[in-house]
Amino acid sequence: MSQSAENVEDPFKPWKYIIFSPSKVTDALTVLMKGLFLVCLLTSISFVSFTFFSTTTKSYVRSSGCVDQTLVHYSSTNDYQETYDHLYESTNISHILFGIGGSAKTWNNRRRYNEIWWKPNITRGFVWLDEKPAENVIWPETSPPYKVSEDTSRFEYTNTYGSRSAVRLARIVKQNFELGLDNVRWFVMGDDDTVFFTENLVTVLVKYDHNQMYYIGGNSESVEQDVIHSYTMGYGGGGFAISYPLAAELVRLLDGCINRYASLYGSDQKIGGCMMEIGVPITQELGFHQVDIRGNPYGLLAAHPLAPMVSLHHLDHVQPLFPGMNRIDSVKHLVEAYTSDPSRAVQHNFCYDIKRNWSISVSWGYTIQLYPYLVTGKDLATPLRTFLSWRSWSQDPFTFNTRVLSIDPCKRPVIYFFDGVTELDGGGTMTSYKRPLQPKKQCENDSYLQAALIEAFNVSAAILDTAVWKKAPRRQCCEVINGGDLDGVVQMKIRGCDQWESVTPP
Ligand SMILES: *[C@@H]1O[C@H](CO)[C@@H](O)[C@H](O)[C@H]1NC(C)=O
Ligand SMILES: *[C@@H]1O[C@H](CO)[C@@H](O)[C@H](O)[C@H]1NC(C)=O
Ligand SMILES: *[C@@H]1O[C@H](CO)[C@@H](O)[C@H](O)[C@H]1NC(C)=O
Ligand SMILES: *[C@@H]1O[C@H](CO)[C@@H](O)[C@H](O)[C@H]1NC(C)=O
Ligand SMILES: *[C@@H]1O[C@H](CO)[C@@H](O)[C@H](O)[C@H]1NC(C)=O
Repeated sequence: MSQSAENVEDPFKPWKYIIFSPSKVTDALTVLMKGLFLVCLLTSISFVSFTFFSTTTKSYVRSSGCVDQTLVHYSSTNDYQETYDHLYESTNISHILFGIGGSAKTWNNRRRYNEIWWKPNITRGFVWLDEKPAENVIWPETSPPYKVSEDTSRFEYTNTYGSRSAVRLARIVKQNFELGLDNVRWFVMGDDDTVFFTENLVTVLVKYDHNQMYYIGGNSESVEQDVIHSYTMGYGGGGFAISYPLAAELVRLLDGCINRYASLYGSDQKIGGCMMEIGVPITQELGFHQVDIRGNPYGLLAAHPLAPMVSLHHLDHVQPLFPGMNRIDSVKHLVEAYTSDPSRAVQHNFCYDIKRNWSISVSWGYTIQLYPYLVTGKDLATPLRTFLSWRSWSQDPFTFNTRVLSIDPCKRPVIYFFDGVTELDGGGTMTSYKRPLQPKKQCENDSYLQAALIEAFNVSAAILDTAVWKKAPRRQCCEVINGGDLDGVVQMKIRGCDQWESVTPP
């Protein structure tokens, strides 16, 4: 089969080539009084409503002993919001109870991914196993504590191509709920090979009122998967979060759902079916990644949507995140950047070097693409297709647009990968990106020869405040710092955009 330079049939080929070739204070007292009255009102209301369903759920809002205050007047929704914020401290990591689906025999291998993100004594939760680990196994302190799932042989499972373990996995959320642990606002489910970015998970969950019924997650990147399984559920590998009151309702129905949806393949589908009965739709958050793709996830992470990166999954099924590293080390390398500025990790920025007519695309903490010519903002924002679909290993369709990565070296970016991060005095980071081995076949075109002189990029950026994720989303701006490069290192800066600033070709 012949391949045109424009249309790459096998995205692995070009990819191999990349890898292996180289406030205002008003009347404070009034506000305080209003606040106090509202606290009492809200506490009474929540107490009443929680007492109402306390036969099935555990009350976690305690009555503060306020006098019954019915004559409360408040002037604006702002007052309400402020009071609400005071009544509930914002969600933190300890309010999340993780339920990880595992199995005794495979845990020792799978824990490599889990232990990258699990923080003993900080993250709360359990790995639910199919059976007790063998007598001689010392359970690692670096893993979440384990629990053994209840027997599920009484449930029906009629799917012909899946595994019965789906029933057990679906019941993890119920078993976690029934532990009745204190101060749990969110039940988060994940697979044993899910890597969570917990600070970002908290950043996302903070936006939602945990006293309402929320089901938050993402779907599959591969349209074929969404068609077969569902568009309207949170995919289990990417992980999903269920607020306490929704979990209470789900737990009541779950066992019945498992039998009603016996023909469905996965645990996440059975939960999705139950959610349909409750009537709570999935709230899609773009940072949950099921990673239902084959090949190289590069394109996906090099042009991440404007949302905090919450999870990655299936990392044993895709190529390592960085060339020349094994899979686990490549995830740890990404986490190194992530740890220094969680909100900014893999955030996408792009800008032009107008002196040279270069286009530069930055995925913070992961990669830089240098195009020695002008590329439109729309193209830069579109992921390069370095991967295939999950089930049929096809070039499309995905739930997002992709663009072809040409095999013509004169039509592809020069790629740099995250190398290291240093903290800047006064806060902020400097991340550096280096070019891997020189590609064998280089573009001899003048502009590319100039680009070939660039060995690295140093990018400075302030720490991205998590508060930006509560605001209307806007991609930040970047610039090549005056003077351009020093010894083959391009100096760049990422910052908030100025008024009337856009990435528009000169
Ligand atoms: C999380 O918030 C709770 C209040 O609900 C507080 O008691 C706890 O110390 C906080 N935990 C962390 C890790 O910040
Ligand atoms: C977690 O806490 C327990 C009890 O407080 C302690 O024994 C254990 O060493 C701690 N584990 C880690 C990994 O810090
Ligand atoms: C950059 O591109 C513009 C428009 O295509 C062109 O007018 C200008 O001469 C170019 N500058 C350089 C340095 O190539
Ligand atoms: C070099 O490549 C750019 C981008 O593909 C193209 O616009 C330009 O015409 C090429 N120049 C030469 C001399 O081939
Ligand atoms: C770029 O960053 C690296 C790593 O932080 C540092 O060693 C190097 O001196 C920097 N180079 C320039 C030219 O700023």
